[in-house]
Amino acid sequence: MRKHMRLNSKLFRITAAVAAIFVAGAFLTESSGATAGGVQGKKNRYIGAAKCKNCHKKEETGDQYGIWLEKSHSHAFENLGAEPAKQVAAGLSIDDPQQADDCVQCHVTAFGLPKEKIKKGFKPELGVQCESCHGPGEKHMMARMRAAGDATDEYPDIPEDELVSVPKVATCLECHNEKSPTFTPFCAHERFALIRHLNPEKPRTEAELAALDACSCKAECVCKRDSEGGVCRDAEK
Ligand code: HEC
Ligand code: HEC
Ligand code: HEC
Ligand code: HEC
Repeated sequence: MRKHMRLNSKLFRITAAVAAIFVAGAFLTESSGATAGGVQGKKNRYIGAAKCKNCHKKEETGDQYGIWLEKSHSHAFENLGAEPAKQVAAGLSIDDPQQADDCVQCHVTAFGLPKEKIKKGFKPELGVQCESCHGPGEKHMMARMRAAGDATDEYPDIPEDELVSVPKVATCLECHNEKSPTFTPFCAHERFALIRHLNPEKPRTEAELAALDACSCKAECVCKRDSEGGVCRDAEK
């Protein structure tokens, strides 16, 4: 308990410092916003992983940014420029996969969305970023900046409509599907485990932790890919 509190107050200091940096920018955005009152309520654009990094790269709270960097999601666009991608593309008469919507659509975040949904400075070339799974993050960033001032040692209560805390399998399947030229069956509980980036300070019971790793299709689970490619009933949920 003691340790928990100490880490949290350290986090608070860091968060407050980060917030102070952000606040100057936030005021600019608010005063130049055309729709008065809409800033806090409606505005929720894609802000990009570089913004999430400001608050989610601390070892004590799970370094979600660092974990993402190690996974191929963060290289998904870059990889479209490499030889294996070019070979896949050649088979489909596509010259440059990085220029082809048919490839880019699943290898970046916020593909094809109108400009007003995307904050200036957002970089699609960073690949499949946090917001592909967690949804647009501007509202969350603003809310956490506001909360930093009166933060306590408790894990904050993050309202459901602030961002997607626990992305659903259906979100993964928007990209992990047969339209991908390199598709392999998507076994949800295996794939979730491969990208997991938990915050060790988030209060969770043993049962809740165990549930994260449970195969949702239980006894009938055929998630393990067999030699023919396997069937992954888990992913149909
Ligand atoms: C101004 C700081 C800040 C920024 C920027 C920020 N977050 Fe957070 N976020 C927090 C804080 C504080 C928490 C509470 C847990 C903690 O202390 O890490 C949190 C919690 C979360 C949670 C867990 C929610 C829950 O219900 O427990 C997710 C998911 C998350 N952030 C994702 C993101 C993503 C994605 C981005 C970028 C789009 C982002 N955050 C940007 C400060 C921030
Ligand atoms: C429907 C979404 C989707 C589209 C469209 C798509 N990809 Fe992908 N791509 C994925 C996913 C998801 C993966 C991860 C594969 C996996 O782990 O099952 C992937 C992985 C890859 C890989 C790595 C292969 C591997 O085995 O890890 C290459 C190379 C690639 N894609 C190239 C392309 C090219 C070139 C195009 C356009 C011709 C393209 N992709 C279009 C979703 C897509
Ligand atoms: C490919 C999808 C995906 C991407 C990309 C992704 N996340 Fe997550 N994130 C998840 C899932 C799913 C969970 C829920 C926990 C689980 O099932 O492992 C989660 C949980 C979290 C949590 C809460 C941790 C907890 O203890 O519950 C935070 C914070 C978070 N993500 C931040 C980020 C940040 C920051 C990035 C980008 C640097 C990011 N995520 C990228 C899918 C993703
Ligand atoms: C916007 C499209 C998109 C979404 C949404 C998405 N992925 Fe991916 N995922 C990809 C692509 C593209 C790759 C392959 C990148 C490459 O190899 O260049 C990939 C690769 C992966 C890998 C291999 C990672 C590694 O480093 O070996 C895992 C595991 C994975 N995805 C799990 C998930 C899970 C779980 C979700 C949902 C919570 C999810 N993905 C959502 C596009 C997506």
